[in-house]
Amino acid sequence: MIEENGRVFYLVTKHTSYIFKVRHTGQLENLHYGNKLRNQDFKAIEMKLNAGAGSSVIYSKEKQAVSMDLLPLEYSFNGKGDYRHMPLELEMPDGTYVCDFIFDHHEVRKGIVAMNTLPAAHGDDNECETLIITLKDKLFPVELLLYYTVFYDSDVITRRVKLINHANEKIVLRKIMSLSLDILGYGYDMITLDGGWIKEANAHRRELSYGITVNDSTTGASSNRHNPGVILAKNGTMEDTGICYGFNLVYSSNHYTAVERSNHDLLRIMTGINPYNFNWILEHGEEFETPEAAMTFSSEGLNGLSHHMHDFVNHHIVRGEFRDKERPVLMNNWEATFFDFNERKLMNLAKEAKKLGVELFVLDDGWFGERNDDTKGLGDYHVNLKKLPGGLTGIAQKIKTLGMNFGLWIEPEMVNADSDLYRKHPEYAVKIKRREPSLGRNQLVLDLCRKDVQDYIIEQVNTLLKSAEISYVKWDMNRHISDMHSDEVKHQGMFYHSYIIGLYRVLKRITEENPEVLFESCSSGGNRFDLGMLSYMPQVWASDNTDPIERVKIQEGLSYFYPLSTLGAHVSQSPHQQTLRNTPLETRFNVAAFGLLGYELDLSELNLKEKQEIKAQIAWYKKNRRLMQYGRFYRFEKEKANRINFQVTDQEGKNSVLGNFQILQESSPSFDVLMFKGLREDVQYKVMTLQQSMDIKFFGHLVKHVLPFKLKFDGHIMSEARKYYRLPNNKEVYIAYGDMLSSGIRINQQYMGTGYQKNTRILKDFGSQLMEVKIIEDGV
Ligand code: DGJ
Repeated sequence: MIEENGRVFYLVTKHTSYIFKVRHTGQLENLHYGNKLRNQDFKAIEMKLNAGAGSSVIYSKEKQAVSMDLLPLEYSFNGKGDYRHMPLELEMPDGTYVCDFIFDHHEVRKGIVAMNTLPAAHGDDNECETLIITLKDKLFPVELLLYYTVFYDSDVITRRVKLINHANEKIVLRKIMSLSLDILGYGYDMITLDGGWIKEANAHRRELSYGITVNDSTTGASSNRHNPGVILAKNGTMEDTGICYGFNLVYSSNHYTAVERSNHDLLRIMTGINPYNFNWILEHGEEFETPEAAMTFSSEGLNGLSHHMHDFVNHHIVRGEFRDKERPVLMNNWEATFFDFNERKLMNLAKEAKKLGVELFVLDDGWFGERNDDTKGLGDYHVNLKKLPGGLTGIAQKIKTLGMNFGLWIEPEMVNADSDLYRKHPEYAVKIKRREPSLGRNQLVLDLCRKDVQDYIIEQVNTLLKSAEISYVKWDMNRHISDMHSDEVKHQGMFYHSYIIGLYRVLKRITEENPEVLFESCSSGGNRFDLGMLSYMPQVWASDNTDPIERVKIQEGLSYFYPLSTLGAHVSQSPHQQTLRNTPLETRFNVAAFGLLGYELDLSELNLKEKQEIKAQIAWYKKNRRLMQYGRFYRFEKEKANRINFQVTDQEGKNSVLGNFQILQESSPSFDVLMFKGLREDVQYKVMTLQQSMDIKFFGHLVKHVLPFKLKFDGHIMSEARKYYRLPNNKEVYIAYGDMLSSGIRINQQYMGTGYQKNTRILKDFGSQLMEVKIIEDGV
């Protein structure tokens, strides 16, 4: 809801208000972003600048003009006395870097205002409203439009700007942020999601000191180094208490978020396109639109913030047929075979997968051209008939006959130099004349700034999708951009942004022309986990790291901004291929179940008992799929360093699943208390441990002490025994009201090194359990 009264703008969502006013000198002063306030006289929250300004510069001679440096502004402009970092840096028609935009008029529209070049959040006229403020430079005919779209139910407000050059001369954009927000306050921490390949989105929290703290990417993608999502949390804000702000960007290229704490403890937050290597020429009559930034405020801690962002992604970012739809359990052949497969191998894998309950079989890299390793063939999407004699149609048909859907891997933005495509069109690749291009994973990037390259990809992928019954595509992108250059752009400072505009055009066309295909975005795992990609592809392969102990951290980090319905998570082999860590099958599943479940391992290496366990996992997941993909997700405080808990609860608070993950076993551990969240206090629930089973190899030499006969722990009989017996985990069942479950229940003691009995809870290193909570209705 948006109201205006005497040039005060009042934007309100279900639980928050955002208020600003036009000052008499034309700038926009932010009055409040936080808890919901009623619409009233806001004098009490205006800035009171009634003392000297010291060495500051006063904006103008006008009566009561003040220093811009001391105001919380909606957007600020260079060269008029505000010395904090600027959201906008323009070379104006007169060659100066000074501009002075002031309020001209405003307009309120129902719904969203779509963009021409970039994806934006969607919503119908009942769900959102947009305020457009037009500012005009005092000297030149240049306009700056500020857009605010209010998504009432999800408590998110999006912001972006558009610059229009009506001057006869060109202007040059060196920096143009989507959002700039000044709030008052000290004592804020900044939380960012950082990492790299196989260690994406690890959450880090640090106190904001004076000066500027930056979270950005320069790789040409949103990157696995720093996700665009950033949180500002008051010191002491925890998962369920305290206040915090969340910011994210609907953008998949170089992003930039900076927070400056000024000498008067004003915090300026800005987010947008990274000014790194950015230089955009705007000729007479042209306009420039920035990506959309999404922001939220929560007074219910970090979980509250995530719930807003999750609702926003599920309802206003993800679109198309798969929005709000349950996603299939898949089997991907990559970690089972890598490039070394043929139809027989694949079909054996597929038959096993089908028996276990898998619904979608995905054929990963290596099915085309000369692609037998990662040095050649990328770009040549004609099927390798030596591997697949029946072609794609043949294999897709066979999979279909087995009763599963068929999915395919492609990497359309890239090319190997050793490929027919590159031999035919070397000019399609990003590189600089007379400089040897640097490679990433032996490949070059296709120049998506070029319209002919975009059209080539659209045509190729569309033809491919028509060539067989393909119901899922894993769209990969496996390198950072280097040697950035394109003949297509007027200035090389326009390269990165033009690339992403080109990519978005390609994605829009392909996804709109193939609405029945489920697309999963991938970039060496989570190198492009962002709202831009999610605008076209409803799910993302979160990381190549499926070791559950690393994955639990990665999924926890991503959960600050992205709902489980977007997060691809697979069960893979142990010891894990990237960490060499040995983990139990139950834990690999228990972590992957908090996401979009898949399997990515050689099923032929599993014994009968392991297959039975997987069959039970898939059956359980399918039964609880809605809850696991779309339930309310909760994180917990790390009360113990060796424990992580997750919980999902359905919208009505009737069913929940809690994951209890142990990192390392303590000797003689202390007692475990499980506190459930989001339950209804006055109704009864039944809590049960999910029945799973453990591999007896984890008990090592202990086995020989509990058996009536002598058995060598690493001997032949023992390895045979593993195939026929797995030890059931201890099962606990409680009936309790929600109030008791929320305050915490004391569960069975863990193994203490001695005195094992059947009720002893055995977690060991990397162990875990799932607890199911179900409402008892009508006494049943
Ligand atoms: C990187 C992806 O993250 C993997 O899952 C796999 O698809 C490989 N690329 C294939 O080259």
